[in-house]
Amino acid sequence: TILTLDFGSQYTHLITRRLRELNVYSEMLPCTQKLADLSWTPKGIILSGGPYSVYEADAPHVDPAIFQLGVPILGICYGLQEIAWHHGKNVVAGTEREYGHADLQAKRVDGHVDKLFKGLEDDLKVWMSHGDKLGALPPNFHVIATSKNSPQAGIAHETKPIYGIQFHPEVTHTPRGIKLLENFAVGICGAKQNWTMAKFVDKEIARIRALVGEKGQVLGAVSGGVDSTVAAKLMHEAIGDRFHAVLVDNGCMRLYECEQVKETLTNHLGINLTVVDASEQFLDGLKGITDNPEAKRKFIGGKFIDVFEGEALKIEKEAENSPKAGRIEWFLQGTLYPDVIESISFKGPSATIKTHHNVGGLPERMMNGQGLKLIEPLRELFKDEVRELGRQLAIPHDLVMRHPFPGPGIAIRVLGEVTREQVAIARKADYIFIEEIRKAGLYDQISQAFAALLPVKAVGVMGDKRVHQQVISLRAVQTTDFMTANIFRFDWDFLERVSTRICNEVDGVCRVVYDLTTKPPGTIEME
Ligand code: XMP
Repeated sequence: TILTLDFGSQYTHLITRRLRELNVYSEMLPCTQKLADLSWTPKGIILSGGPYSVYEADAPHVDPAIFQLGVPILGICYGLQEIAWHHGKNVVAGTEREYGHADLQAKRVDGHVDKLFKGLEDDLKVWMSHGDKLGALPPNFHVIATSKNSPQAGIAHETKPIYGIQFHPEVTHTPRGIKLLENFAVGICGAKQNWTMAKFVDKEIARIRALVGEKGQVLGAVSGGVDSTVAAKLMHEAIGDRFHAVLVDNGCMRLYECEQVKETLTNHLGINLTVVDASEQFLDGLKGITDNPEAKRKFIGGKFIDVFEGEALKIEKEAENSPKAGRIEWFLQGTLYPDVIESISFKGPSATIKTHHNVGGLPERMMNGQGLKLIEPLRELFKDEVRELGRQLAIPHDLVMRHPFPGPGIAIRVLGEVTREQVAIARKADYIFIEEIRKAGLYDQISQAFAALLPVKAVGVMGDKRVHQQVISLRAVQTTDFMTANIFRFDWDFLERVSTRICNEVDGVCRVVYDLTTKPPGTIEME
């Protein structure tokens, strides 16, 4: 195991993620971790980047004992400066901050580059993000790499396996950075490359069991999406029916979706699921909201909490009476790492200050008020890893590869007022579009696709009659992070086929358009 000590950089989790890609197991702990409190000995230690300057009075420092342990150490950015600080305190504010791409030269001695750069070209594109630099080389260190603005971009101890680099090998902007991490973890530390998702499952199940105890019970909301399903299945594997999943039907889910989710979660995955049909309450409440997408979201979010809370209280009452189990004191949330990054503050080591903005979470009165504690088994994982985990847990392929679906559902894809009739039209059109995408074998190439119903009418001719009916807008995008997106380039025959089917099969629609807007300037959803 490689120990990663976190100084609060937004990139720290990427270090553990890259090591996982190399099948090397890594544990991340706060930078203040005392070595004496650790029950295991790491094969190597990585010191992450961080937002501080090492010379500031309140800057965090590692337990100096790590330098006596004798295992290899790699300092990245702040980590490099921390190493220099420990070995002579000569770190100064740089005259210029250095952000962005830099060309790095690994230094050759007797024709060889250092072990850390083994197999890497002499010229490496790297990503820099720092303001401080070394005032002078610490005693007994030598330079192993340089860049134009950082003459000491990489340093190593003369006799001990201690390395520091100024750039970030963990980000994709350092394309060969993973090779450098492999050189450190495998080549220098001798870490085994035997970490697999199967091991993650075992470890996480053991962690959940230890956390929840013999009798503890857990409550969670599921939506039918990948994250909540994977989190729920993991929970079910760990504690069986002491995990209670609740699906709230808000009347704005896709056609047949509620039934399908129920069937898969209950019959296929064996999860203890309660479906609450609240569609009437939601659809009644949406009446009259005509031109305010935010009001729709707010209403749906608030209503969801009311309905969920009502159900939670019922489940809690029943749980109290169960002789085999204890009180419900945990709330499961399928938060992924990218959700966490967004809310990292730069004021302190991330492990102590990360308070994330409960996306889809519960209000104070339910969490602390009812004494619920959060359990987030996916918080270190990225979307593709969650999918991999889903496969590991035998969740069906179609569900694992499912496109994201927003909490407010079809309500934000029916532009203007949401009525039962409008939802029915949008649902049918969406169903046809997705069905055709699947038939054409394109589903897994597209990141997200849906049909939206526009609140305008256009003239058409159907049979021999002129009609005045609504317009469906189709949207399909490709993206990796959903922050920016490109449109998916269907062929014309495909689009024509979908258009014909929608006009023929969906009453109330006489025109279909394809949305050509990238993000930005468009968002992925229409509202
Ligand atoms: P936008 O429309 O902001 O969407 O480009 C980016 C991604 O977020 C999803 N999305 C939501 N998900 N509740 C959710 O759970 C919401 O209110 C919401 N709004 C947008 C959207 O589907 C896309 O994947």
